[in-house]
Amino acid sequence: MGHEQSIVIGAMKGGSAKTASTYNLAYSLAEQGKRFLAIDFDPQSNLTTCFGVEKTGEVPVTIGHLMISVLEEEDLPEKTRFIWEREGVDFIPAPMMLSAVDAKLRLEMGTGKILSTILDVVKDDYDYVLIDTCQSLGALTINALSVADDVIVTGNPQLLAMMGLQDFLKTVTKIQNRINNKLQGAGILLTICDARTILSKTIVEEVQETFKGQLTVFENKIPNTVKVGESIYYSQPLIEYAP
Ligand SMILES: Nc1ncnc2c1ncn2[C@@H]1O[C@H](COP(=O)(O)OP(=O)(O)OP(=O)(O)O)[C@@H](O)[C@H]1O
Ligand SMILES: [Mg+2]
Repeated sequence: MGHEQSIVIGAMKGGSAKTASTYNLAYSLAEQGKRFLAIDFDPQSNLTTCFGVEKTGEVPVTIGHLMISVLEEEDLPEKTRFIWEREGVDFIPAPMMLSAVDAKLRLEMGTGKILSTILDVVKDDYDYVLIDTCQSLGALTINALSVADDVIVTGNPQLLAMMGLQDFLKTVTKIQNRINNKLQGAGILLTICDARTILSKTIVEEVQETFKGQLTVFENKIPNTVKVGESIYYSQPLIEYAP
């Protein structure tokens, strides 16, 4: 992956570690000297919480506000008002009202690329922009995929958790064909893997077999470990909490 990349972390299933992956990837790449912007694009504001923001409902300028500004043809505020920094990683927080933005995007015409207006203002400052999406394939996620260069699909190798994978990839193909032909499937990141269970091993093999020649399944898998939950509780990236 080259310079000025926008990467979306997505999946159709909740709890497949999209947020944990976005958060930790941000710090791992920042440690390698990359300039990083993470965008919380999920109404649940989980990524914002990971960064240690306690009252996500009280953040004055969020990605939701920026989306509304663009929708209303208003000027965007100064970057310093919406870009936050936590130990070398910049991020834009999300509020609860982001779900209202999703509804608004669906009501108005031509809203598929609203997020790109915001990215145009900030992306030159960064090597990577990472967007953490929500589990539903609503207008927000479509917006995220419409501006992205790459999408990393997270998958938790439990039978039911893997079932939305094909549907999600079908949507990625539709977006590639209809809205954003530079979008690439970077690969499938298997998360919360239990090396000890036969089911987990079987499903990992199945996924590798299914996507052979079609989409990379990253060889590095993320193990199931309590350290992830603990590190989030303490708002610390894993490279710090449990290197
Ligand atoms: N490698 C891991 N091992 C154990 N638990 C993990 C791991 N990664 C994430 N978790 C836990 O799994 C839960 C879901 O993770 P996370 O919030 O990152 O998923 P998500 O895909 O962003 O979910 P959502 O769709 O709700 O946004 C969290 O409680 C998190 O602490
Ligand atoms: Mg999440």
